[in-house]
Amino acid sequence: MMSWPEQVVRVQSLSESGIRAIPNQYIKPLTERPVFELGSQSDRRVDIPVIDLRNLFGNDPILHLDTLIRISTACRHWGFFQALNHGVSHELMRRARLVWRDFFNLPLQMKQEYANAPTTYEGYGSRLGVEKGAILDWSDYFFLHYLPVSLRNQSKWPEQPSSCREVVAEYGCEVAKLCTTLLKAMSTDLGLKEEYIENAFGGNNMEASLRVNFYPKCPQPELTLGLSSHSDPGGITILLPDRDVARLQVRKDGDWITVNPVPDSLIVMVGDQIQVMSNAIYTSVEHRVIANSAKDGVSLAMFFNPKSDLVIKPAEELVSEERPAVYDGMTFDQYRVHMRMKGPCGKARLESLKFNSPK
Ligand code: OGA
Ligand code: NI
Repeated sequence: MMSWPEQVVRVQSLSESGIRAIPNQYIKPLTERPVFELGSQSDRRVDIPVIDLRNLFGNDPILHLDTLIRISTACRHWGFFQALNHGVSHELMRRARLVWRDFFNLPLQMKQEYANAPTTYEGYGSRLGVEKGAILDWSDYFFLHYLPVSLRNQSKWPEQPSSCREVVAEYGCEVAKLCTTLLKAMSTDLGLKEEYIENAFGGNNMEASLRVNFYPKCPQPELTLGLSSHSDPGGITILLPDRDVARLQVRKDGDWITVNPVPDSLIVMVGDQIQVMSNAIYTSVEHRVIANSAKDGVSLAMFFNPKSDLVIKPAEELVSEERPAVYDGMTFDQYRVHMRMKGPCGKARLESLKFNSPK
């Protein structure tokens, strides 16, 4: 079985040890470090898309269309938006955060029972990628398979806190409904049949997984990152961001923009497979997480991905003489190897899939 190249260090344990300086293995090269501006980010006057989804579920055609247009604009120009009235119970969101915070607060020894390996990544982890000597991120995580049911193995989900498995099942179910609604909206907007993306992703065999990120306090947040720059490799991600601290940054026209989470919102992110399938009409969002010295935090990222052995390529309806296929087709299994071996690398992987890219 493939294992980690170095002894695994839990970032939470490092943080709780009270060190004042972070170990070298977490110090990013200068160009990757975050810039903490003196003035507030809002000086920049960028309007981060916030979309009320209420009318997507309703039956007023005009309001439905208006919502669709907002989603369309966000997916084409940003690859992300903050969603309100998304249908996921706020109380369930609160419970999901709490139960995972409680998990990370368990004694280390209990969490170690779920220690993961790079073969499937399922379980309790502290790094992405297996390159010896890689610069690591200031976070720990728990990764589990949610869908299809055949891949779901609840014995790999935490047994403690006692409500964890139940809360994950319930939360996943509600978020999956939202995902279905969004995939329909995106397909329609792209001029495809409503079920197109869902079917291309394998219909009932579509895969869903959950990564719960734990961001421990960091004594030198200016030197490292909570999570390095990447775009999510799969279809779409529905992120329940940390509640207390604005940690997520998205890249827009080369600039890093900090997202101040709107209370009770969920963040929707377009992943690489949808950029490919839309023949680059939609863009996947490059994003990262900055570290914080004052507060730790928890976020839940639910990934909806194509069934891993299906070839994902630009939809034929979106390929023409004027707009030739931008990307080669590839299965998600092949695609995600890169992230699993090398860790987060901005959008480099997607670039390499372009027809004219140097191979
Ligand atoms: C991720 C991710 C962002 C966050 O898990 O892929 O980008 O705010 N998370 O935790
Ligand atoms: Ni991500």
